[in-house]
Amino acid sequence: MKQYRSHTCDELRLADVGKEVTLVGWVDTVRDHGGVIFIDLRDRAGKTQVVFHPENDADLAKQAETLRVESVIQVTGKVVGRLKTEEIDATNPDLATGEIEVDATGLCILNRAAVLPFQLDRSNTNEDIRLKYRFLDLRRPEMQRNMMLRHRITKTMRDYLDEQGFLELETPILSKSTPEGARDYLVPSRVNPGKFYALPQSPQQYKQLLMVAGMERYFQIARCFRDEDLRADRQPEFTQVDIEASFITPEDIYNWVEQMLKRVFKEAVNRDIVTPFPRMTWHDAINEYGSDKPERRFEMKITDCSDIFATSDFRVFSSAVANGGVVKAINAKNFGPSVGQIDALTQTALEAGAKGLAYIKVRDVNNRDGWKSPITKRLTDAEIQALTERLNIESGDCVFFAAGDWEQSCTILGRVRLQCADFMELLKDNHEVDLFWVTRFPMFAWNAEENRYDAIHHPFTRPVPEDVDKVLRGEISTELCAEAYDVIFNGNELGGGSLRIHERDLQDAAFRALGLTPETINERFGHLLSAFSFGAPPHGGLALGLDRVVMLIAESESIREVIPFPKNNRAVDLMCEAPDTVEEKQLREIHIRVKLPEKLRQKLEAESAAGAES
Ligand code: AMO
Ligand code: AMP
Repeated sequence: MKQYRSHTCDELRLADVGKEVTLVGWVDTVRDHGGVIFIDLRDRAGKTQVVFHPENDADLAKQAETLRVESVIQVTGKVVGRLKTEEIDATNPDLATGEIEVDATGLCILNRAAVLPFQLDRSNTNEDIRLKYRFLDLRRPEMQRNMMLRHRITKTMRDYLDEQGFLELETPILSKSTPEGARDYLVPSRVNPGKFYALPQSPQQYKQLLMVAGMERYFQIARCFRDEDLRADRQPEFTQVDIEASFITPEDIYNWVEQMLKRVFKEAVNRDIVTPFPRMTWHDAINEYGSDKPERRFEMKITDCSDIFATSDFRVFSSAVANGGVVKAINAKNFGPSVGQIDALTQTALEAGAKGLAYIKVRDVNNRDGWKSPITKRLTDAEIQALTERLNIESGDCVFFAAGDWEQSCTILGRVRLQCADFMELLKDNHEVDLFWVTRFPMFAWNAEENRYDAIHHPFTRPVPEDVDKVLRGEISTELCAEAYDVIFNGNELGGGSLRIHERDLQDAAFRALGLTPETINERFGHLLSAFSFGAPPHGGLALGLDRVVMLIAESESIREVIPFPKNNRAVDLMCEAPDTVEEKQLREIHIRVKLPEKLRQKLEAESAAGAES
């Protein structure tokens, strides 16, 4: 045998009729039509029908009949056209190879498959089973499509960035903590007892140091590790398309990202997206949508009603305004929520910090009895009139309110808004692409628990020019603006970045603003401050979440669908069973002793015993 195959399973056409061919692949289906065995043979490219006629070779047909699906076989045979007459049409228009079949003359069973743990053609299989047998799950056509899409997208980005003069450089995985807001994964060092590496939450410091090193344009398809609570769009290890460049303004970054995504959409799914992307300030995003990653494919914008209720008898509203806060409202048009839905929406509001969720179901806009709500009897006719005009209220609408602090009220309604849209199925079958920038983020947020400021982006982010002096002087407040930007895709944060601080004194001041002591600054970031005192160029960059890009282009529900071997939402690799315990000897070598608190140990033991039983 010179080669395993002469063609792929997606290649043969009518023009090939008469050829002797050899195909390899997986048995997709086996059908027995009165002794004639039909096998759909599948490889990565597609499927071809193979036929075993008992009258040609009875033994061969018998062998074929014994094959279980997902066995791997090699078939030799002759390409024949499928019957197509007035009465009988044996062709399959759904298959690229549907006009031919291969008349088998030889069969080599390369690997027999055991009974499968789940049926590959069922889409509702429990995800844990899929993840445990990921090597089978990945054989399913939609997963194969996702993986090919992932490859195509990555390749397109690489090519684009290469053309723009970016150097693809790797940075260490065993490194030192870089704060991005999550916990670090730590790796103990054997040769340096008692010391730990941190896996990078992002290559942030290294890429900035590459700019100091004169590389000017860098990119990396970079693995990042963050120990945080997982969701559908978050994994403990994920991939960024990480970019940094020197001597640039945000306009350069916007342009690169827009052109790169334009090309990605064209290459990956043949869609034309509009550039340049619109821009929206962080303030407007919060004020109108209650989110720094607004979903703009439906309206239901947040509207200010503070003036209407400033002197209201309804104290919940008027006292909010009197205390310097706001009354905000959204109008869910044509929405008649059930009691259960109102409860769920209220729960969402409470979880976002609300004290309650006032609402009005408007059955009949012209009749006060048609305003169904716990609060309408507290409102005057004039207030109801003003509200009707402000929110364009019509019969059938439902209005929700949040009163209190501006940002919190907006955020509460932002979540209620998304949940209403979910209940109303406003985005069902919506394939629009809404890509835009959110700009002018605040530099700092107040962390009341720890009584200090947090960096909204990360501590290396540059303030806007007019706020540089305030940071230098230590006049820190939540009013200060960062030269930071996020790119949003249909209500998801696709990527984020900023211009960076490149001056030692400003970076030092930014660290101090976060409450870091000079000792801590020196210990954790001494190398960066040192670098900034030897000729650091102005620079900036951004990172796109590659998994999210692929997920959104594939229109998948979760990033787990586009990652070959993802972890489940408890950060477990179910296939390999990682994380796992290790040998005592290994622990001794790295100078680690595991000592779980007694209670936790008992709990884990009980859990694993229960797991073993079930
Ligand atoms: P940031 O923390 O915003 O910025 O991350 C950039 C992008 O990475 C993706 N992302 C994730 N994807 C999957 N799982 C996760 N746990 C996860 N966390 C983040 C998101 C996000 O927009 N160093 C900066 C970038 C810079 O300033 O240049 C950074 O990491 O899509
Ligand atoms: P109460 O006067 O406490 O009975 O509240 C009347 C309604 O207003 C209830 O439906 C509460 O859920 C709601 N509510 C209370 N506080 C707020 C608030 N800060 N914003 C919006 N609604 C509120």
